[in-house]
Amino acid sequence: MAETDQAPPQSDQLAAMNLTDAVEKHAFSDRVLIRSIVGRPDGGAGLSGQKVRAGGWVKTGREQGKGTFAFLELNDGSCPANLQVIVDAGVAVLSKLVATGTCVVVDGILKVPPEGTRQKIELRVEKVVSVGEVDPAKYPIPKTKLTLEFLRDHLHLRSRTNTIAALARIRNALAFATHSFFQEHNFLYVHTPIITTSDCEGAGEMFQVTTLISESEKLEKELIKSPPPSEADIEAARQVVSERGEAVKQLKAAKASKSDITASVAELNKAKENLSKLEERSKLKPGIPKKDGKIDYTQDFFARQAFLTVSGQLQVETYACAVSNVYTFGPTFRAEQSHTSRHLAEFWMVEPEIAFADLQDDMKCAEAYVKYMCNWLLDKCLDDMEFMAKSYDKGCIDRLKMVASTPFVRITYTEAVELLEEAVKGGKKFENEVKWGIDLASEHERFLTEVKFQKPVIVYNYPKGIKAFYMRLNDDMKTVAAMDVLVPKVGELIGGSQREERYDVIRERISEMGLPLEPYEWYLDLRRFGTVKHCGFGLGFERMILFATGIDNIRDVIPFPRYPGRADL
Ligand code: 4AD
Ligand code: MG
Repeated sequence: MAETDQAPPQSDQLAAMNLTDAVEKHAFSDRVLIRSIVGRPDGGAGLSGQKVRAGGWVKTGREQGKGTFAFLELNDGSCPANLQVIVDAGVAVLSKLVATGTCVVVDGILKVPPEGTRQKIELRVEKVVSVGEVDPAKYPIPKTKLTLEFLRDHLHLRSRTNTIAALARIRNALAFATHSFFQEHNFLYVHTPIITTSDCEGAGEMFQVTTLISESEKLEKELIKSPPPSEADIEAARQVVSERGEAVKQLKAAKASKSDITASVAELNKAKENLSKLEERSKLKPGIPKKDGKIDYTQDFFARQAFLTVSGQLQVETYACAVSNVYTFGPTFRAEQSHTSRHLAEFWMVEPEIAFADLQDDMKCAEAYVKYMCNWLLDKCLDDMEFMAKSYDKGCIDRLKMVASTPFVRITYTEAVELLEEAVKGGKKFENEVKWGIDLASEHERFLTEVKFQKPVIVYNYPKGIKAFYMRLNDDMKTVAAMDVLVPKVGELIGGSQREERYDVIRERISEMGLPLEPYEWYLDLRRFGTVKHCGFGLGFERMILFATGIDNIRDVIPFPRYPGRADL
């Protein structure tokens, strides 16, 4: 149903109004949402006889009855279902309406179609209000079944397809669910910076933010247009200064009038100014500014090196250590050369951070959040999920139900490695060798969650050597209080940890990892002053969508994918 800001009707009013009540016009447009017609429990039948204005893009259109009328399947993105529209030849030039992709706005009367048709309601058009025509010979995404790969070359039009529109609605629903979950649990939404001077993961996979290159290009162009002054130009300017200096001196010696002296001094100052300008310009050199053989970042925009963030964690910790429960949800960037179906160079991450909480609490929160999102989709997006099940992954709805209702398995990293070693002994072949100390590869993670347990698995207490410096050192001194949530279809969905809150230990860990202490001094302050036990995690938002929908490639679940070699639009 269309959303309005009116109070919900009382139950007696509801009874009186039943499903034949008038369909609501959209609050900020002069038409009704197609969803408010066909999305009703009765499929729209109860609206028969009503006059409405609808607008949308033609999915399929065909002229019928020897050109006496046309059927249009109209979709406005408000739901997966189309509105069937019937236009008589007397109302409009039918050939201009039927091409896939045409935009039409029509006024008409809703009618229950004759028995035997699939639709519960159709729109009989009385007036075509406007048409955005399409030349089918030139339209890049005609009606034929197009592969998702092909659509990646048409990012600006692919939202017109059923799949990408459904993914947009699912993505929107998951974002809403995210805020709803954390708000319900009293977390504050904190906006962490996109431009940062800290490397959270210490992995050095950051995109640099600099104006040095564009500035140097600008300068190069400028210097070509007006070349820097030559030594002779500067010498000539020096000559003028000395001549004018001499003139002032002579006037003073001759006791000339005050006004003459003042005028002469002004001339001298002008000459000096000109000289210093020329000297300044003569120092301009094309290329990136350098000092002692290295790039001179003091001349960069922020007067230091800056990057796009790989994670908002470090900054959000400053708020967790003050207002206790927080989360950040924003874009993150990684300049890794990963050409896989699970990596993007720009992806969105949800990162809660909880004070007065340990690794157990962290796992509990992660599990509750993932379950909440599954239930949300089952509740609010079932029509889109049914489309996904029909078109891409038969099992996706059952998977959501299973995950929403099954406790996640929890095993230590050591147990995980033992299970993998057992599997190898039993004949299972992995490309990457299994032994204690390795970073689990995607094939290992997927074996655990898809084959061994067939449900989400949380692996915790990883070897310290393969994890970030901020994770809390366990008493065994070998492992850290890290946890990864692994899910079927995707592998790693969440990475998190209890944070090292002990000043001495974290200082030692930073040094041990070969990282410089200076940039982390502010982070160490959180441990120096009023330190607190705390934990958090990051959920890869696109990976959640992959998991929910069964789509194979992460490039198709973000509106504008960025990956090595591609950043269209
Ligand atoms: O495991 P990661 O690297 O953890 C962090 O960044 C922590 N600072 C989070 C925290 O504790 N606040 O990344 C978290 C999640 C991964 O589990 C994965 O789902 C996703 O982010 N992710 C990516 N998603 C798409 N493309 C990439 N290149 C990704 N890298 C990580
Ligand atoms: Mg990780």
